[in-house]
Amino acid sequence: MDEKKTFYITTPIYYPSATPHVGTAYPTVAADAMARYKRMRGYDAYFLTGTDEHGLKIQRRAQEAGLEPLAFVDPIVENFRKLWQVLLIDNDDFIRTTEDRHKKVAEALFQKIYDQGDIYKGEYNGWYCPPCETFFTERQLQEGHLCPDCGRPAQITREESYFFKMSKYAQAWLDFIEENPGFIQPQSRRNEMVNFVRQGLDDLCVSRTSFSWGIPVPFDSKHVIYVWFDALINYISALGFGFEDELYQKYWPADIHLVGKDIIRFHTVIWPIMLMAAGIPLPQKIIGHGWFLMGDDKMSKSKGNVVDPFILCQKYGADAVRYFLLREMGFGLDANYSEEALVNRINIDLANDYGNLLSRATAMINKFQGDIVLIPGESTDFDNGLRETAAAVVPETEHLLDNMELSAALTEIWRLVNKANKYIDDCAPWALNKAKETGKLASVLYNMAETVRLVTIMITPFMPGLPRRVWQQLGISDKPELHTWESLKWGLFPAGTKIERGEPLFPRIDPATLNESEEPAREKEEGPPSITIDDFAKMDLRIVKVLACEKVEKADKLLKFRLQMGDEERTVISGIAEHYQPDQLLGRNLVLIANLEPRKIRGTISHGMLLSAAADGRLEVLEVDSISSGAAVK
Ligand code: MSP
Repeated sequence: MDEKKTFYITTPIYYPSATPHVGTAYPTVAADAMARYKRMRGYDAYFLTGTDEHGLKIQRRAQEAGLEPLAFVDPIVENFRKLWQVLLIDNDDFIRTTEDRHKKVAEALFQKIYDQGDIYKGEYNGWYCPPCETFFTERQLQEGHLCPDCGRPAQITREESYFFKMSKYAQAWLDFIEENPGFIQPQSRRNEMVNFVRQGLDDLCVSRTSFSWGIPVPFDSKHVIYVWFDALINYISALGFGFEDELYQKYWPADIHLVGKDIIRFHTVIWPIMLMAAGIPLPQKIIGHGWFLMGDDKMSKSKGNVVDPFILCQKYGADAVRYFLLREMGFGLDANYSEEALVNRINIDLANDYGNLLSRATAMINKFQGDIVLIPGESTDFDNGLRETAAAVVPETEHLLDNMELSAALTEIWRLVNKANKYIDDCAPWALNKAKETGKLASVLYNMAETVRLVTIMITPFMPGLPRRVWQQLGISDKPELHTWESLKWGLFPAGTKIERGEPLFPRIDPATLNESEEPAREKEEGPPSITIDDFAKMDLRIVKVLACEKVEKADKLLKFRLQMGDEERTVISGIAEHYQPDQLLGRNLVLIANLEPRKIRGTISHGMLLSAAADGRLEVLEVDSISSGAAVK
């Protein structure tokens, strides 16, 4: 058998100087989605992340906390690991630069480059930004000697240092980029870097003596290796480069280093030149992504505008948070974060579009075909149109994902979701049912189930927690062969499958509840008054079955129900249209206060009130499973 093709993707390794925020979570979520996609495409994918633990910044933070650096970073590193679990990240390795397996590779590489004469001793006399741990020439600084990256004051530093002969490799780098135009992406970043290198490269100061928290230079222990030189090596130290290097042999060169735009220069200029000097092949591609902004500012700890991803996941679920991050950030562009935008994505894309497609499919298969997906009958133009869209969306999604255009891939997948919702409206299965067009009805319901299956496969890399719930509702949990990328072929859904209706995947969130936490509701001074059992007995609570339901014209919140209550039929207007689609409750057994005085609402007499429960902006109607309509609720 042929060996599987490999795919190696990395995120930057994070500074464990502060807990992670939504912005820092982005690269890991994106790389995870990509690795999952590649695994589904049959690749042997390896996904690395980790922490970058040395340097002055960490040493200072530890001192301020009165701790040794390692004791300071340990709990923060744990927090990163925990976050990755919560966000359903499936990384193959997590490297810490304080581990011996990393240190020995960094030392060996430094030694090798020194031995061949590309690292030499000199004196650094110039500008340095301590928070960024970056050296700058005067030309690179902003007015007032401010750091061009973080805007804080840079300092003049003078100390004995080792230098890496970057200048020697400038032309080789330019030649390489010319021959490999896809190496830096997006192209705008490549152009920026080419312009930068064309001006010539200074040698890079790669050791420090003014602090000790780092990997000692192997042949001169009063120096520690510059933290960036140390950190970049993680991409090969994690693979055991130069030691037990089975993984290195298998996965290097990396297919993608995914990095934020703030650290492009380190990854596209310094790292490749380090590799060239060491005679190691260069990675295939370095992709620079934008930032999550809050207003006009980058979300970052130093700007004090961070959002805690743990809280978001708890509130909205990891799948929804992942979807939002990946959908919101276009390739190479910045994106805006706001909780309103997140809730909008959940309500529109996930609840209204995708979740509702599943609810509509299962509700109608339940009502019209007793839960069974039947063999499709004759096809109409609508059926062909849906199938054609599916056939076009799959390869286009693959093409976009192969270029790591995650947001565009989601947009493409939603083209099919939207087409399917429109298809249902066009085919009106309820009318086919009424007209007893059983063959056509079977086709429509089959096509709905099949579309949900195809969409769910394609969104698995983005929302890995979701599919299990969908397969259950579609009744194909025990058929893993229908969950694979290979099975993205129309018509594999087995006719005869019994579906299992379930909870809505993404209950709608009332945007009005977003700011509620800022104004905590005052506790009521008194609770509701006590009632006697006789008071309760005055209420006629009854089970009713939904026969029909439609929107009330020009009333966003109202649905008009026709209900079966024993032998009687009732019309009831209910204010739940923001939480349910009209066809979603068809055939379900709900609870009605039957003896409420009739009221005229929008010209219709509404006789009774459906019971529901509401919390956290969600609303669910009360219902029973198999008790038949007319039964009393006691
Ligand atoms: N330790 C270095 C990387 C060394 S890699 C050899 C570092 N760490 S970091 O913790 O500051 O940033 C990690 C990643 O998070 C970077 O790619 C950075 O661009 C990204 N982000 C930090 N804030 C972000 C946003 N607000 N939005 C998107 N990405 C963000 O840099």
